[in-house]
Amino acid sequence: MSATDEVSRIGVIGCGLMGSGIAEVSARAGLDVVVVEADQAAVDAGRARIEASLAQGVRRGKLSEDARDETLGRIRTTWEPDALGDRQIVVEAVPEVEALKLQVFDTLDKVVADEGAVLASNTSSIPIMKLAMATGRPEQVIGIHFFNPVPVLPLVELVPSLLTAPAVVDRAASYASGTLAKHVIRSQDRAGFVVNSLLIPYLLSSIRMLESGFATAEDIDIGMVQGCAHPMGPLALSDLIGLDTVTAVAESMYEEFKEPLYAPPPMLLRMVDAGLLGRKSGRGFHRYR
Ligand SMILES: NC(=O)c1ccc[n+]([C@@H]2O[C@H](COP(=O)([O-])OP(=O)(O)OC[C@H]3O[C@@H](n4cnc5c(N)ncnc54)[C@H](O)[C@@H]3O)[C@@H](O)[C@H]2O)c1
Repeated sequence: MSATDEVSRIGVIGCGLMGSGIAEVSARAGLDVVVVEADQAAVDAGRARIEASLAQGVRRGKLSEDARDETLGRIRTTWEPDALGDRQIVVEAVPEVEALKLQVFDTLDKVVADEGAVLASNTSSIPIMKLAMATGRPEQVIGIHFFNPVPVLPLVELVPSLLTAPAVVDRAASYASGTLAKHVIRSQDRAGFVVNSLLIPYLLSSIRMLESGFATAEDIDIGMVQGCAHPMGPLALSDLIGLDTVTAVAESMYEEFKEPLYAPPPMLLRMVDAGLLGRKSGRGFHRYR
């Protein structure tokens, strides 16, 4: 593939909060999308997540029923990674667990035929170079970091590693800013990239504040919404991101920089141990069911 070839076939691995959004916006932009999940139950749950998001778009008048049906018609869901063989760009969005992502990149290296394909990760914090070195073609690997919810938030961070080929950077930039009309910023390959390097210490500070009995969860969130015009408070935002993901991102950043401000506080770790993961499990710092 050369840098001027048009991208029409994209793959997404993992169809949770982020993968479902990446698949949705790609299909809405007219691309042919293959989504790979872990097993049949996860495939069904992932497809249901995309359908629910599109149904919400129709209810809010952002999408016609015909456009919803066409979008769904462009998305094929499967648990077989071989289905990614002919993809020109693949975006990995499995949980923020390094060992799992390394396995996924090893698989991508084996199944994606195109020697110019973009092998991208939506990781929030794992250095791209680590993922790239799980493949025999590190020059094709790059970070394309979307924000949650993907259909709503306009930002994408583009994170080339030291070895990413310029043509791969161009193709990834063209997909994000041209095809998807996202606003692209670039970051060096440092754990956390630009946004999480600033956001995670703030979220962890709010958790430490709650843990020490300084203020209630409600008051901490109201403080930042009413006092600083943030759209939501830090504890509600942590619940939206998922407390397992907040913890994993903080741990990668702590491992990279050894700064105490990135260390996940015990309260966060115990909540994850308890399965209190935020919105996706129905309870985090706030209750959702
Ligand atoms: N949650 C956020 O706000 C957010 C924002 C930006 C980036 N991210 C990053 O996106 C990635 C995914 O996060 P998420 O919040 O969507 O997680 P999630 O837990 O909602 O979804 C992950 C999905 O991956 C699937 N999966 C697990 N193993 C798999 C495998 N081997 N093959 C295929 N699918 C597999 C799971 O079944 C699940 O549906 C993480 O790297 C995270 O750091 C998350």
